[in-house]
Amino acid sequence: MRRNPQLNKNGELQHLLSIEGLPREVLERVLATADSFIGVTEREVKKVPLLRGKSVFNLFFEPSTRTRTTFEIAAKRLSADVINLNIAASSQSKGESLLDTVANLSAMQADIFVVRHGSSGAPFLIAQHVKPHEHVVNAGDGRHAHPTQGLLDLYTLRHYKKDFTRLTVAIVGDVLHSRVARSLIHGLTTLGTPEVRVIGPQTLIPTGVEALGVHVYRNMREGLKGCDAVVMLRLQNERMRGALLPSAQEFFKHYGLTADKLALAAPDAIVMHPGPMNRGVEIDSSVADGPHSVILPQVTFGIAVRMAVMSMVAGASA
Ligand code: CP
Repeated sequence: MRRNPQLNKNGELQHLLSIEGLPREVLERVLATADSFIGVTEREVKKVPLLRGKSVFNLFFEPSTRTRTTFEIAAKRLSADVINLNIAASSQSKGESLLDTVANLSAMQADIFVVRHGSSGAPFLIAQHVKPHEHVVNAGDGRHAHPTQGLLDLYTLRHYKKDFTRLTVAIVGDVLHSRVARSLIHGLTTLGTPEVRVIGPQTLIPTGVEALGVHVYRNMREGLKGCDAVVMLRLQNERMRGALLPSAQEFFKHYGLTADKLALAAPDAIVMHPGPMNRGVEIDSSVADGPHSVILPQVTFGIAVRMAVMSMVAGASA
């Protein structure tokens, strides 16, 4: 059987490129390792020496607030040196190729590359070309995958709901363009979640998504019934070619999460959103800031989860 390119011969995480295809034990190890870092993030001195002397290069070719910042915080809490490449001011703007940029950073003794790129597959390409002791962590590639977001979503679900095997989770909105949705679906199905629903208009649901083990709902009120968690997605206008929706107002009417729609979910349902959030487009402020919302705890958990991922890949032998 062909080995997953993210794992070394001992089954350890060498790179993190996608949740798809990762064994359940690896996902559980990430979540358990993140548990051990939650304590660190709550201490007065929020540092451990696990990555002392290592260099983490943040290469963000697309905008980011949460992911870039929490990777930087996570790397610093692991005592790594962090280099944030300013892409706009880098030699990419003079025509240097992605692999040449990475080769030059590698010559500066990089240990971990954290990569966000608009093209699906860019982190995979880099991982094929780095040296054996170097590691690549995908921070979101095109519409393909956002594995650390998926892992922090799983961490949040486990924190509030404990047992994946008893959950009904609804993922709502622009599933078609969402790397977050894809990563979370793979994570939930691998961890045994029995009911994963995707809810959205036909134009924003990928053809054949049922093959991933999800149930599709066009009617949001039907799809929300009895859900333990509702994951709202942003409309990814930057990835839409042509008009897939009549208007943002029309979308909000049918697929925006309001208090009256949320009342159809389980009474103790949690509301998640990866951010950035568009209030009044996919979610009403009364819900985003309401008692069911765990949107900001998701961000905080992201630090421990990214510490877990970087410490695991750095600890994997080539
Ligand atoms: N969730 C997420 O990826 O947010 P950013 O684009 O701000 O990193």
